[in-house]
Amino acid sequence: MTDTTKSATLSIGGQTVELPVLSPSVGPDVLDIRKLYAQAGVFTYDPGYTSTASCDSTITYIDGDEGILLHRGYPIDQLASKSHYLEVCYLLLYGELPTAAQLEDFETRITRHTMIHEQMHNFFRGFRRDAHPMATMVGVVGAMSAFYHDSLDISDPWQREVASIRLIAKMPTIAAMAYKYSVGQPFVYPRNDLDYAANFLHMCFSVPAEKYEVNPILSRAMDRIFTLHADHEQNASTSTVRLASSSGANPFACIAAGIACLWGPAHGGANQACLEMLKEIGSVDRIPEFIARAKDKNDPFRLMGFGHRVYKNFDPRATVMKQSADEVLDLLGIEDNPLLQVAKELERIALQDEYFADKKLFPNVDFYSGIILEAMGFPTSMFTPIFALSRTVGWVSQWKEMISDPQMKIGRPRQLYLGANQRDYVNVENR
Ligand code: SDX
Repeated sequence: MTDTTKSATLSIGGQTVELPVLSPSVGPDVLDIRKLYAQAGVFTYDPGYTSTASCDSTITYIDGDEGILLHRGYPIDQLASKSHYLEVCYLLLYGELPTAAQLEDFETRITRHTMIHEQMHNFFRGFRRDAHPMATMVGVVGAMSAFYHDSLDISDPWQREVASIRLIAKMPTIAAMAYKYSVGQPFVYPRNDLDYAANFLHMCFSVPAEKYEVNPILSRAMDRIFTLHADHEQNASTSTVRLASSSGANPFACIAAGIACLWGPAHGGANQACLEMLKEIGSVDRIPEFIARAKDKNDPFRLMGFGHRVYKNFDPRATVMKQSADEVLDLLGIEDNPLLQVAKELERIALQDEYFADKKLFPNVDFYSGIILEAMGFPTSMFTPIFALSRTVGWVSQWKEMISDPQMKIGRPRQLYLGANQRDYVNVENR
């Protein structure tokens, strides 16, 4: 476990406080400040949590300077090329790669939970057809707590397991139904003879009027996109799930909170925003104009799909995604996709620009994913729901890790108060 023989000495307000330094299995040491306020009467201050570890975890490790991403110790590029999404789900949930028998049992359990309660179909019909699918997903996933009463008790390990399987299994069905509802087509039920990614494509793109064959190239690319988005340490939406769960709220409500947070364009919404940006740029000769805007402090415009709080080197997922984009477009015969040309030239120019080099801004996971998803036939409004679908296993794994920790406490940060000191009420006639 952690080496607590190290400590740091803090002198503040005429006091000296010894703070333990905890060492990880890999990565930076952490300063344990849990007793700081009690001993020194001061808070730490870290809006945006740029230097704060909110928990300990054994699930995912990121080295932003080296561009490393490990899931339970396995590098993301190896998992993307050698594994598949449900096997990565097993790894994230249970900590080890499964044996063949364990994997078969897990895949069977997921497959048998892909349908949603028939009465939940009514929820979709309460939305306008032009509702963003993320609005629908937040609503329907939160409403799962109104249906699955036998997996709400988070103190029961069996109910936590059932809730985990249900969320991972049903998220593709809910995302596909949100898409079908938005395009006015009938819902398509999951099929148990299809694998996870193929089933999702089937539920999105098949129609009752004709036979639909899943393209194995697209299915493999879809599965790889799921894997690349599965988990990512304590990002904003995962931290949202952890904070919501710390109050003891049920898992469905907590995952709905994670979906809501992911929706933001600074986070999971960036894949939709990035493709819309590439379309707005339109051609390589307009790239300098947008690079200038991204560098202009008076212009709120940012290059979507660029930059990352942790990665100050290439996002290893973007590297894999870029290779996949080339493969998928080539295999689909989409030669010289103009958006891919703009993206590659934008990346080339930005990486040569000292503004981006100085600020260590590299393409992130969202930069190329939209190009693949659009080539597969998804509208931009479905990009973030697909991210949410993929990240459900990460949220659930981090949730299980926290809930099963006997030391778990409710998350309750403090603040630097800059408001008015105490003052007496003034009647309206005297104001
Ligand atoms: C995801 O956390 C995760 O792990 C998230 C994620 C996951 O898997 O869960 O990896 C998924 O959310 C990826 C990020 C997707 N978002 C985008 O692509 C949106 C565009 N990127 C930015 O908004 C930004 O880079 C963030 C939000 C991703 C990171 O912001 P930070 O870490 O708070 O950095 P910052 O805003 O303080 O920026 C540092 C500097 C600033 O300039 P200065 O004020 O120092 O002069 O870099 C600039 C920023 O203006 N900058 C950019 C930029 N990103 C940062 N300038 C132009 N274009 C950009 N994209």
